Amino acid sequence: MHPSAFLACLLAACAGWAAAAEPPRADLSDEDRSRVRRVTAPATQFERAESFEAMQGGAGTVRKLINPDIFSHPAANLDFAGRQDFMVGNGLFRKDWVSSPSSTQASDGLGPLFNARSCQACHVKDGRGSVPGFDPLQQADAVALLLRLSLPDTAQEARERLKNAGRRMIPDPVYGHQFQPFAVAGLPAEGEIRISYREIPVDLNGEAPASLMAPSYELGKLGYGPMHPDVRISPRLAPPMPGLGLLEAIHPDDILANAAAERGDGISGRPNWAVDPGTGGRILGRFNWKAAEPSVARQSAKAFSGDMGLSSPLFPDHYGDCTPLQQACRAMPHGAQPHLGEHEVPGRLMDLVAIYALNLAVPQRREVDDARVLAGKKLFYEANCIGCHVPKYVTRRDADRPEHRFQLIWPYTDLLLHDMGPGLADGVEEGEASGREWRTPPLWGIGLTKVVNPAATWLHDGRARSLLEAILWHGGEAQAARDRVRAMTPAQRADLIRFLESL
Ligand code: HEC
Ligand code: HEC
Repeated sequence: MHPSAFLACLLAACAGWAAAAEPPRADLSDEDRSRVRRVTAPATQFERAESFEAMQGGAGTVRKLINPDIFSHPAANLDFAGRQDFMVGNGLFRKDWVSSPSSTQASDGLGPLFNARSCQACHVKDGRGSVPGFDPLQQADAVALLLRLSLPDTAQEARERLKNAGRRMIPDPVYGHQFQPFAVAGLPAEGEIRISYREIPVDLNGEAPASLMAPSYELGKLGYGPMHPDVRISPRLAPPMPGLGLLEAIHPDDILANAAAERGDGISGRPNWAVDPGTGGRILGRFNWKAAEPSVARQSAKAFSGDMGLSSPLFPDHYGDCTPLQQACRAMPHGAQPHLGEHEVPGRLMDLVAIYALNLAVPQRREVDDARVLAGKKLFYEANCIGCHVPKYVTRRDADRPEHRFQLIWPYTDLLLHDMGPGLADGVEEGEASGREWRTPPLWGIGLTKVVNPAATWLHDGRARSLLEAILWHGGEAQAARDRVRAMTPAQRADLIRFLESL
């Protein structure tokens, strides 16, 4: 181990080090290990596509017609029993929950405060959501742009409490962890979100300047009095769903190796650590825009609780994000049915939703052999986009589910946190992520974003209306990569975008 990597680890108090110090990837034989190293090495020639490059989601990749359902297929290698579960989970992902009491007892318990009635209202057709400011037609009873609320994390005591509660941010004392613009009948909603944009021109070599949209947020019609004066807002747009089970099956050693790498390119990814509810130990975070959540199952249970106000074994409070200071909310009826169990969403249903969310297939790439796409891929490497958007992995041999085991995948992410500069900073800490850090999002499927949801936009708060705008917002550790894109000729930029569109 390099001494400075060891020091960085001590400073970050990284309890996962013990695992990283063992021979890397205990799941692999020596022979496997050299094979894996060979197939995951960065590309060195760009005259033709690499082997298996089109199958970016491994054996689970779908090769279906490109239409708005392209993100909604089960992984191609999912077995029969898995497909049955996937179908039921699909129904639960799409289902509109209603408030209690109601005649449809198995679907009630919504709220009392909520952001949407169904998972799919935000993850539109299993793709990303759209921002109200850009999509006036957004479903009237859903806002796919969540506003997380947080107080600055200064007190040691507050941090301890957070850790024990398995939560990663200090909530507003009245409004809780997130702002909920909707409530069941008879209860005031928390208020309204107003978004305004300021245009920022950015010069580009050889063509007219691009125009970036910098958002600001205002909360109006507050239903429960003023917020804490120090409250900060972290806007988060619903991300796309394909390939999540494969991301969960990437070995932690591979992620930590990228964090520890001595690189000399100004890029230094950091892991976010979460508390393992089973053991109380630390576990690597990988999901959500700040990599704060360790698993798809936990993020899904958190969504039922925080976004829809539905209890489950992991988040057993029937009132979701209603705080003790929202008494009227806590006095409303809830939807747990004694004959179905103690929770509004019983464990068995939770598992089915998780199986669904773990097995949405990554679509096959298009045009991998096209000369312009290959030129764009070369530029993607040359601009060092791969410093964070790490192209390939081979998933663990011992992954939980057989369909996720030992797959060569191409997600273009390191699942690590990076300082992305002041332009993208939200000023909100989450777990070990700072107010300037974001997790590198996977890029697979990104070229099909608008096929699935024509109103979808990019980045954590959906401020980027095009892939080029998303790149031009990169700052901090990614400033050098972004400047290389600005300096490209218009034809080169078009090639780079064409490569992204082929993903
Ligand atoms: C109100 C909109 C909304 C609803 C409803 C919603 N989500 Fe999400 N979802 C989000 C947002 C926003 C994020 C990113 C969260 C963050 O960064 O904190 C997210 C993230 C996720 C992720 C992690 C994806 C990743 O790449 O990191 C999963 C899995 C997920 N949601 C599943 C679900 C499931 C299952 C449901 C229904 C039970 C659901 N979501 C309902 C908005 C929503
Ligand atoms: C230092 C790490 C880093 C480098 C280098 C980097 N990115 Fe990113 N990229 C990120 C992070 C982190 C985000 C998410 C930022 C946010 O949402 O605020 C992101 C977001 C994106 C997005 C939008 C993804 C989405 O789902 O909305 C695209 C497209 C993208 N990057 C392309 C590129 C390209 C092309 C390059 C090279 C020119 C590049 N990136 C270089 C870290 C990096």
